[in-house]
Amino acid sequence: MNKKKSIKKKTTTTGATGFGGALSKLKEKTFDYTGTITAHPQTPQQTIPPSLLPPTSIPSYASTSIPAATPPVLPWVIERKDKETILKMERAGKLARQCLEVGGAAIKPGVTTEEIDRIVHQECLSNGAYPSPLNYHGFPKSCCTSVNEVICHGIPDARPLQSGDIVNLDVTVFKDGVHGDCSEMFVVGEETDTASQELIQVTYDCWLKAMEFCRPGRAYSDIGGIIEEYVSARGFSTVRAFCGHGIGSVFHTNPNVLHYKNSEPNGKMEPGHTFTIEPMICAGTQKHVTWPDKWTAATKDGGRTAQFEHTLLIEENGVRPLTGKREGDRVQWWEERSEVHKGIWTGSFD
Ligand code: MF3
Ligand code: CO
Ligand code: CO
Repeated sequence: MNKKKSIKKKTTTTGATGFGGALSKLKEKTFDYTGTITAHPQTPQQTIPPSLLPPTSIPSYASTSIPAATPPVLPWVIERKDKETILKMERAGKLARQCLEVGGAAIKPGVTTEEIDRIVHQECLSNGAYPSPLNYHGFPKSCCTSVNEVICHGIPDARPLQSGDIVNLDVTVFKDGVHGDCSEMFVVGEETDTASQELIQVTYDCWLKAMEFCRPGRAYSDIGGIIEEYVSARGFSTVRAFCGHGIGSVFHTNPNVLHYKNSEPNGKMEPGHTFTIEPMICAGTQKHVTWPDKWTAATKDGGRTAQFEHTLLIEENGVRPLTGKREGDRVQWWEERSEVHKGIWTGSFD
């Protein structure tokens, strides 16, 4: 998701050796982790030989870490995609879903998040796509795995998943010039505690409510109030520091989709708009700390947090998920038990 103002540009680091390296190691050792999860070793960043993918499926930042294009300065200026771009986004969205399904199916006790990352990475490449997170502003892996109190941007590492953990797996792919972005929760093992179950159900339902609100003419700023009202009535909080975002040839662009009550001038929905809604909901405080790795955002109080995400397309008479589940995809218990929509959500139309 988007950092509230703009994605923080990484400042130059001193690297793994020398004083800077020693300092960052010290920071890691003395860092006060807020909950049960701590940083584990990471394997080196994957490199993709350019010959492996068509040039149209390699994003501008793959080698530089810096995206070439920036969002329009005026927050209400939102690109309308033409038919051809929408076709490409449908294909990217379907593939993102496929990679999420394949990665998610591997989530089991004892499996490391790095193994999940390898599976997602491979599924992308086998289907002619680039895993969008890889080297995006320097991100070291191909997807995000956010466990328990980790809100978002968890880096896959050597920690083995434990029964009862709750994991958000966030997959984005870049194919034929466009991105598709989605995420979902997974329970590790047979079950998790009732408090975590309620957290996941409330997060899923507020997300559905927000997506079902979407129609041409509606304001992006009204999404946040729907989410905040729903979760606060049930004793949960909604993260303010990270947002949903416009998406297309650029990973994060206008509109900025806030998940809390606001009146920002972030534009109105029009047919051809593509964007994400990806609320992060917390059992305790919505405030976060960032780990020394400069990516992982965890709740300040160590309380658990959950998130879901779709890439959405505004159509003439409604809204459709480009990353929606297909017939045969795994249906989770929160989808069966939802009080907003039961079963696979395939959009909302007049
Ligand atoms: N997929 C995330 C989102 O929903 C973004 C991840 S960017 C990364 O917007 F660099 F952290 F991987
Ligand atoms: Co996103
Ligand atoms: Co995402």
